[in-house]
Amino acid sequence: MQKEITLSKRLTKIASFIDIAEPFADIGSDHAYLPCFLCQKHANTFAVAGEVNEGPFYSATYTVQACGLQDRVDVRLGDGLEVLKENERMQVVIAGMGGSLIRSILEKGKKKLNNVSRVIAQPNIDERDVRIALQEFSFQITEETILEDQGHIYEIIVAEQNKNNKKNSLTDRELFFGPYLLKNKTDIFYKKWKHNYLHHQRILDQMMRANVKNEQKIAQYSQEMQWIKEVLSDEAAADQRRHF
Ligand SMILES: C[S@@+](CC[C@H](N)C(=O)[O-])C[C@H]1O[C@@H](n2cnc3c(N)ncnc32)[C@H](O)[C@@H]1O
Repeated sequence: MQKEITLSKRLTKIASFIDIAEPFADIGSDHAYLPCFLCQKHANTFAVAGEVNEGPFYSATYTVQACGLQDRVDVRLGDGLEVLKENERMQVVIAGMGGSLIRSILEKGKKKLNNVSRVIAQPNIDERDVRIALQEFSFQITEETILEDQGHIYEIIVAEQNKNNKKNSLTDRELFFGPYLLKNKTDIFYKKWKHNYLHHQRILDQMMRANVKNEQKIAQYSQEMQWIKEVLSDEAAADQRRHF
């Protein structure tokens, strides 16, 4: 009997941003769950599962075989976007790793990005790095979402190839919070930033107590705390309006 794949809430949401009419590559696909899930659901979908490490590469190969999907999920061993062939047009998913690693995968693979129509990124931390990289490599953020799954809060960032070379000009504040997340602040968004405010506060206190002070970092953290205070005050204002 063939294995049937079910996805976590986080991966289900990521899957919802993939256009199943076009092939996609899941870069860093330790068990190939996302490609196998979508190929099981949709008979004409084709996917690549890319892995840099041998252990996860073999796990991905195992899942694909157990699902009987060898003809539609191609498991490839390699670093980041190097698994994509020349002129292979793809959407790319890079999920479940830090934002700086996602940024470096985009940077190292920038030549391949010409053939990438859409990037769906889910950084576990340092989301700003991903937004900066997408902007740098001419991708336009078109959607963002934030969700909580098993006690963790995740952001998903979707970006399309900027065909018209329209100038990307996200402000520092938008790069920090996410332009779409800022426009539609949900309870989970507020929960994340309440937690991050306390984290920022602790780091700022440590920096202030240090013998050698990094004034640039202190100024950056102070500015970010000010922004967080502002967005949290939006929640307080909305709460007040609700009570009148
Ligand atoms: C924590 S797992 C996330 C798996 C899956 N994408 C998810 O979101 O559940 C990260 C995977 O990315 C792989 N990885 C890390 N750097 C990579 C790179 N440069 N290229 C391809 N895979 C990479 C790791 O080997 C690991 O299997």
